[in-house]
Amino acid sequence: MKLRLGFGLLILPWFASTWAQNTTGLREKLASQNIAALFRNDTGYAAANTGYNLRISVEPIAITFPTTVQQISSVVIAGVEQHLRVVARSGGHSYIANSLGGTDGALVVDLSQMKNITVDPHTKNAVVETGNRLGDIALALNEAGRGIPHGRCPYVGIGGHSGFGGWGMASRMWGLTLDNILSTTLVLANGSIVTASEDSNPELFWGIRGSSASFGIVSSIEFRTFPVPPSGTMYEYLWDMDIPTATNAFISFQQWALSGTLPLTFGGEIGFLKGSSYGRVQFVFFGGYFGPAETFNETVAPFLDTLPSTPDLANVTQGNWIETLSALALGVGNLNTSTQPDTNDTFYAKSLMAPMDVPLTNASMGAMVKYLAEVGFNRTGFWQVEVELYGGKGSAINQVPLNKTAFAHRNTLFTFQPQASSADHLPPYPESGFGFVDGMVTSITSNMPENWNWGAYPNYIEDRLPNWQRRYYGPHYDRLKLLKGLVDPLDRFQFPTSIGEP
Ligand SMILES: Cc1cc2nc3c(=O)[nH]c(=O)nc-3n(C[C@H](O)[C@H](O)[C@H](O)COP(=O)(O)OP(=O)(O)OC[C@H]3O[C@@H](n4cnc5c(N)ncnc54)[C@H](O)[C@@H]3O)c2cc1C
Ligand SMILES: *[C@@H]1O[C@H](CO)[C@@H](O)[C@H](O)[C@H]1NC(C)=O
Ligand SMILES: *[C@@H]1O[C@H](CO)[C@@H](O)[C@H](O)[C@H]1NC(C)=O
Ligand SMILES: *[C@@H]1O[C@H](CO)[C@@H](O)[C@H](O)[C@H]1NC(C)=O
Ligand SMILES: *[C@@H]1O[C@H](CO)[C@@H](O)[C@H](O)[C@H]1NC(C)=O
Ligand SMILES: *[C@@H]1O[C@H](CO)[C@@H](O)[C@H](O)[C@H]1NC(C)=O
Ligand SMILES: *[C@@H]1O[C@H](CO)[C@@H](O)[C@H](O)[C@H]1NC(C)=O
Ligand SMILES: *[C@@H]1O[C@H](CO)[C@@H](O)[C@H](O)[C@H]1NC(C)=O
Ligand SMILES: *[C@@H]1O[C@H](CO)[C@@H](O)[C@H](O)[C@H]1NC(C)=O
Ligand SMILES: *[C@@H]1O[C@H](CO)[C@@H](O)[C@H](O)[C@H]1NC(C)=O
Ligand SMILES: *[C@@H]1O[C@H](CO)[C@@H](O)[C@H](O)[C@H]1NC(C)=O
Ligand SMILES: *[C@@H]1O[C@H](CO)[C@@H](O)[C@H](O)[C@H]1NC(C)=O
Repeated sequence: MKLRLGFGLLILPWFASTWAQNTTGLREKLASQNIAALFRNDTGYAAANTGYNLRISVEPIAITFPTTVQQISSVVIAGVEQHLRVVARSGGHSYIANSLGGTDGALVVDLSQMKNITVDPHTKNAVVETGNRLGDIALALNEAGRGIPHGRCPYVGIGGHSGFGGWGMASRMWGLTLDNILSTTLVLANGSIVTASEDSNPELFWGIRGSSASFGIVSSIEFRTFPVPPSGTMYEYLWDMDIPTATNAFISFQQWALSGTLPLTFGGEIGFLKGSSYGRVQFVFFGGYFGPAETFNETVAPFLDTLPSTPDLANVTQGNWIETLSALALGVGNLNTSTQPDTNDTFYAKSLMAPMDVPLTNASMGAMVKYLAEVGFNRTGFWQVEVELYGGKGSAINQVPLNKTAFAHRNTLFTFQPQASSADHLPPYPESGFGFVDGMVTSITSNMPENWNWGAYPNYIEDRLPNWQRRYYGPHYDRLKLLKGLVDPLDRFQFPTSIGEP
């Protein structure tokens, strides 16, 4: 026994290094199946090896570009044969480069060659390949008079967005993006191509709606769609406020959100930016409203009436559905992502999901405003805190039973997204930026009850969150681990926050 064990220990590292370095074999295998791939030293590799957040740079062993689900399967089989970790990349907007593996040495399945979108003329269900970005999907569905709920950045990919959530201005009326998935086609770790839906592989269907990347590579998704509302309103207001005024504005936003009077056609958020001088912040009220255009003023009046009457900026832009989505894409304006290149940033973002049953205390809201107005004012470089409205009476997000999908936060009032960029938006990211963003979250949590059950949003993924398994997945983590053991026992779909990580 002992001898055999010793022999095994000797021989394992030899195998491991041979497997890891047999890029020639991997290259030949992919080439023989006409699958495009860029390996480390290839021309084009560096350009392909960039994600949205330049804070984290990693070196995948290769980036592959399959064009069909069969090719995805071949890549997975080839990667697993070489004992590689395999990850999917859709839009590349992961905050921690998980779609490049998160750490060195992964095999990347880039889906950018798979951009088909079809809308069934009878059912109006849409089948969307996962190389698509949100803006292009919105345009294509709109051609058929249909829409789905999703975030407002046109360049975010549907693969990550729908795999972990997908919140947008239509989510209070239509739910998260993942709530509208009817079925998916995906490739498992053993290369098999399967359908996951209520009727087919239901446990997998549960898991991929909240934590898809740990279970497979989704090649296409069938969505339920909605008729586009006839009109939409993009609104944006901004005030420069002192600490008491901004604290009252925050308190009043929560009171309004909990008042039970907001229509489901209302979507929005408040935001905080650096103020004009020490002790001040800029307070933003921004969002989309899909009720009749002429009812917008009366809808927001109860909140606006509590704020200073003359904002420094007020922009209310009304139009049809697709015009409103364009207007919501602030700073981009265009939904078609092939007309201009994607952008990037160098930043650290966190998240905090505040449950609806324990409202934020006045002290917590006041503490955050004070922190931003003082510590935030002193800080160099862009930062912001977005406070997105998920809840309120009847919100479609919270109507979904907790256990129906792997998304673990069906009782959310607000999702906070605090973030800060490097001064020039380029690497390196300053070490002090981490503590600064941590402080935004602790200003809230340290002024809430000790056992306050806050969550975190896995689409605002971070690599420094203590107890991330529970924060992201709450009571679902154990069930996710069981599923992981069944469908990916060798942990090939592995990245820093994949299911099963200790
Ligand atoms: C500018 C910007 C604006 C944003 N706005 C919003 C918003 O309004 N609302 C919101 O909810 N979120 C928003 N997000 C967050 C966004 O939803 C997530 O970053 C999302 O995961 C990005 O998806 P992606 O496909 O672009 O990312 P990728 O980096 O390609 O993927 C993210 C993760 O999903 C996995 N993945 C991707 N495709 C697949 C697939 N086909 N099968 C299995 N796993 C896959 C990757 O491996 C990785 O782990 C925003 C992000 C940015 C950068
Ligand atoms: C590398 O892989 C190829 C094809 O899979 C195989 O023929 C070759 O023997 C491998 N080389 C080594 C050193 O293992
Ligand atoms: C890539 O190139 C570097 C030098 O430019 C070399 O040291 C390295 O061995 C090469 N790697 C591979 C995988 O070919
Ligand atoms: C792509 O979409 C077109 C129609 O728009 C359809 O004819 C074709 O079969 C689709 N291809 C795949 C691979 O789904
Ligand atoms: C985006 O623009 C390109 C180039 O003009 C065009 O081919 C494509 O059809 C457009 N996409 C959508 C979804 O409208
Ligand atoms: C809504 O309010 C704005 C600004 O107060 C005003 O200009 C506009 O006419 C109002 N619209 C309606 C339909 O009342
Ligand atoms: C208002 O928003 C629209 C849509 O984003 C934009 O095109 C327009 O320039 C903005 N107007 C002002 C005055 O900021
Ligand atoms: C980041 O974006 C800037 C400007 O948009 C661009 O010049 C630069 O090449 C990008 N960097 C990377 C690494 O993609
Ligand atoms: C919180 O502040 C609001 C607005 O100032 C006030 O009406 C309310 O009574 C305060 N709540 C508590 C519990 O102090
Ligand atoms: C901000 O900077 C000023 C001037 O340097 C300093 O007096 C103040 O204490 C700083 N505030 C915080 C909260 O760090
Ligand atoms: C959801 O499932 C968990 C176990 O995964 C269980 O403890 C809980 O009672 C279930 N909740 C509901 C509302 O069914
Ligand atoms: C592939 O894995 C799935 C999930 O574990 C399993 O159901 C299926 O039988 C496997 N297929 C093959 C061909 O081994």
